[in-house]
Amino acid sequence: MNLQIGVIGTGAIGQDHIRRLTQTLSGAKVIAVNDINPQRAHDTISTYQLDATAHEDPHALITDPRVQAVLVTSWGPTHEAFVLAAIAQGKPVFCEKPLAETAAGCMRIVNAEQSAGRRLVQVGFMRQYDKGYNALRNTLRGGEIGDALMLHCAHRNPSVGEAYTTPMAIVDTLIHELDVLRWLLDDDYISAQVVYPRKSRHAHSGLADPQIVLLETTRGARIDVEVFVNCQYGYDIQCTVVGESGTASLPEPASVLLRSNARSSKHILTDWKERFIDAYDIELQDFINGVQGRGLNGPTAWDGYAAALAADACVLAQTSGKVEPIAMPPRPAFYTPR
Ligand SMILES: NC(=O)c1ccc[n+]([C@@H]2O[C@H](COP(=O)([O-])OP(=O)(O)OC[C@H]3O[C@@H](n4cnc5c(N)ncnc54)[C@H](O)[C@@H]3O)[C@@H](O)[C@H]2O)c1
Repeated sequence: MNLQIGVIGTGAIGQDHIRRLTQTLSGAKVIAVNDINPQRAHDTISTYQLDATAHEDPHALITDPRVQAVLVTSWGPTHEAFVLAAIAQGKPVFCEKPLAETAAGCMRIVNAEQSAGRRLVQVGFMRQYDKGYNALRNTLRGGEIGDALMLHCAHRNPSVGEAYTTPMAIVDTLIHELDVLRWLLDDDYISAQVVYPRKSRHAHSGLADPQIVLLETTRGARIDVEVFVNCQYGYDIQCTVVGESGTASLPEPASVLLRSNARSSKHILTDWKERFIDAYDIELQDFINGVQGRGLNGPTAWDGYAAALAADACVLAQTSGKVEPIAMPPRPAFYTPR
């Protein structure tokens, strides 16, 4: 029996998830959609030939008795209300990042989920499903390079539009590193600082780009993440861990090594949708399987809270110029990894 899914927000990632639910994954069917732009919802139904209802009201989609699970892929500021409404209905909900706009909002979701008594929320931190990050994590756990001392990371996008602001470098872009690095190290952050190199001439007037975010963890690892969203040349994600007796780096995406015209070269991806395409497939299949079987097992509302708490400190650090503390409370037993 297919899991009957309702999708709120049929923009870029909403349509991408609908495509994979319809064409790639198994065990689920999109039976309802909603978008604040009703035409977009209708167009999505026809593009993907869905046998689905276009709800005018997102809350009507959530309470629709045929909808068994909800996908929240609308704009970030709308996520908290939709996730809380799904929890109130006892319906599992997959929410794209950010889980909520602030750590306080994420904590409201954490509290509501715990009151519901079972895991209902999975956050779209797909890098936890990426084969490369999993290989890197297994290497660290294997102990071959000893304890992690330093991490050097980069998150580079070719370019961004005029609407992209300096804080978005944290809440939209760095948020993926904030999640995956704490998962990679099985550690939490205790402080954040942001420093600015010389600004790129490709950045629009209101945007500080690039930025370097410096993080410290409870076990004393130091992390630098370069966020450079107008790097021009590609969508490039880098992560190297320096341990006590060696280094370990995130594998590059598979690409043909070309020797031609007196050059040796490899293609670099430019589209974020391609870079983690397998991870998106695996995360959503895991959500479907979790709802239908053993329970949810993916990135939790607590992960969403942890990333948001660190993001709040980074945004503060962007303007204060100081080292900002991150006071992460202990993880509730409810969120102990299975
Ligand atoms: N995990 C990832 O790698 C990843 C990638 C892209 C986007 N995202 C996240 O997914 C979310 C959507 O991003 P996007 O790139 O698809 O944006 P988008 O602008 O392309 O799409 C958002 C859609 O939400 C709709 N919407 C806005 N407010 C709504 C409301 N109140 N009710 C119903 N629909 C509403 C918009 O009309 C639009 O169609 C963002 O939070 C973004 O950060 C995550």
